[in-house]
Amino acid sequence: MPVATPAAEGRGKAVGEPDEIAAGSRRPCRLPISRTHGPVLVPRPPGSLYTPKAGEGMSAPCTRLGGMSDDVRLRDVEDADLELFFEQEHDPETVRRSRFTPRDREVFMTHWATKVLGDSTILVQTVTVDGEPAGNVVSWWEQDRRFIGYGFGRRFWGRGIGTKALTLFLEREQSRPLYADPFTGNTGSVRLLEKCGFERAGTIWHGENEHIMLVLHDS
Ligand SMILES: CC(C)(COP(=O)(O)OP(=O)(O)OC[C@H]1O[C@@H](n2cnc3c(N)ncnc32)[C@H](O)[C@@H]1OP(=O)(O)O)[C@@H](O)C(=O)NCCC(=O)NCCS
Repeated sequence: MPVATPAAEGRGKAVGEPDEIAAGSRRPCRLPISRTHGPVLVPRPPGSLYTPKAGEGMSAPCTRLGGMSDDVRLRDVEDADLELFFEQEHDPETVRRSRFTPRDREVFMTHWATKVLGDSTILVQTVTVDGEPAGNVVSWWEQDRRFIGYGFGRRFWGRGIGTKALTLFLEREQSRPLYADPFTGNTGSVRLLEKCGFERAGTIWHGENEHIMLVLHDS
């Protein structure tokens, strides 16, 4: 699956081995994500000092129980975000995990200006963490199937931000079935999708890389 960019022109780079999350950086999670992606009311854990912030989505129970306070939100993409997205696309670890070949600056900027932001059938949102842009989530049509993609800066990985952002996005993107096809070795991405209700539906090859096709159906 492209890193938050529709169309498959970047696929095909084979480097490295399947990823492993950094030791100690995984959070405990005891509640499933709602299959309907609607609001989930979670009782405050006994003794917790955590107080939800105004406007915070109610659909990230794992983060609440984990006691983390990252305020994850979605907003429209601003021009200044593109530089950040460009840097993220070129992060070597992102390339290794996603198998998406990064584009040079001019191709990247033109792609985003014309094919992503210029296409009204594409839904794209910048993900902010405590007000700071952290990455993006995007959905687009490929023939008659709607796909989703996402990516975040490395320092945001493994903090539950993907779970929160995807849950919020899936409340806005209501097309079902919805498809995603991460590289087989992109363990974090596959896990994130499965947490959000996507189910495995086979494999697909992009060049020499095997990807897993996952589908989110109506609940
Ligand atoms: C893939 C990505 C979006 C995941 O986002 P994230 O914010 O790290 O995900 P979360 O912290 O919400 O974790 C979601 C689940 O995946 C697990 N996970 C995350 N990274 C993992 C890894 N590298 N290995 C194993 N599990 C991982 C988490 O433990 C969690 O599961 P759990 O609740 O059962 O413990 C993020 O790592 C990223 O941006 N990667 C680079 C770009 C990319 O690969 N994009 C997708 C292309 S298909």
